[in-house]
Amino acid sequence: MFRELDKISEVARYLWEKGWAEYNGGNISVNLTEQLQETFKEKGAISGRIEIASELKMLAGELFYVTGTGKRMRDVARSPWENGALIRICDDGRGYELIYKENIPPTSELISHLYMHHCLRQMGRDTKVVLHTHPTELIALTHIKRWLDSEALTQMLWSMIPECRMVVTKGVGVVPYISPGTVELAEATVVELEKHDVIIWEKHGVLAVGDDITTCFDTIDTLNKSAQIYIHAKAAGLQD
Ligand code: 13P
Ligand code: ZN
Repeated sequence: MFRELDKISEVARYLWEKGWAEYNGGNISVNLTEQLQETFKEKGAISGRIEIASELKMLAGELFYVTGTGKRMRDVARSPWENGALIRICDDGRGYELIYKENIPPTSELISHLYMHHCLRQMGRDTKVVLHTHPTELIALTHIKRWLDSEALTQMLWSMIPECRMVVTKGVGVVPYISPGTVELAEATVVELEKHDVIIWEKHGVLAVGDDITTCFDTIDTLNKSAQIYIHAKAAGLQD
């Protein structure tokens, strides 16, 4: 349909190819208000209003492409509109409606995505993308207690390859295990956003925020490369 959708397809394909998107693992939201406002301003909803467990006033009227719950990344890659939807945040910021294309319920992590978009806006940032995926090596590290410390994990990952510090300049935040899809998880996540652009959910996955979906992917890819090198170095005898 347009360049942003092509980029979503491309990144969804990378996630699948990397092995980070088993079954329906991972989800994507992209703020497309700028690109689609004109086209969709008169468009009626194709769903009823769905309540949001908070007031996200700063996102009122904005449009987001979101992947559908239960949809496979490899299918998002093939066809983003058959596996996702466009939602509009209601004027009071307390609900949203689906407006395009199919009536596909958004990802179960929508609350975390929207909280993150809102929190970033409150911080005065114009971030467009939240990308959530399940990178194998980074998740593996969260099974080890010492790497649940954000500072320790960041220092270790930075020390593996020079690119990591250059690409993931703010390091990585860690959120202890909380049930997926909950407001509690969303709230704990936005706390970490004050300091980091990449956040790891213990024993679950990673979220990256940014202006561009390809850059979000690159950030997670670099971080996961560091995690891979650490695991290989340990197997080769690294003492640390
Ligand atoms: P959804 O299919 O609802 O997006 O869930 C996938 C996921 O990764 C949950 O954290
Ligand atoms: Zn997940």
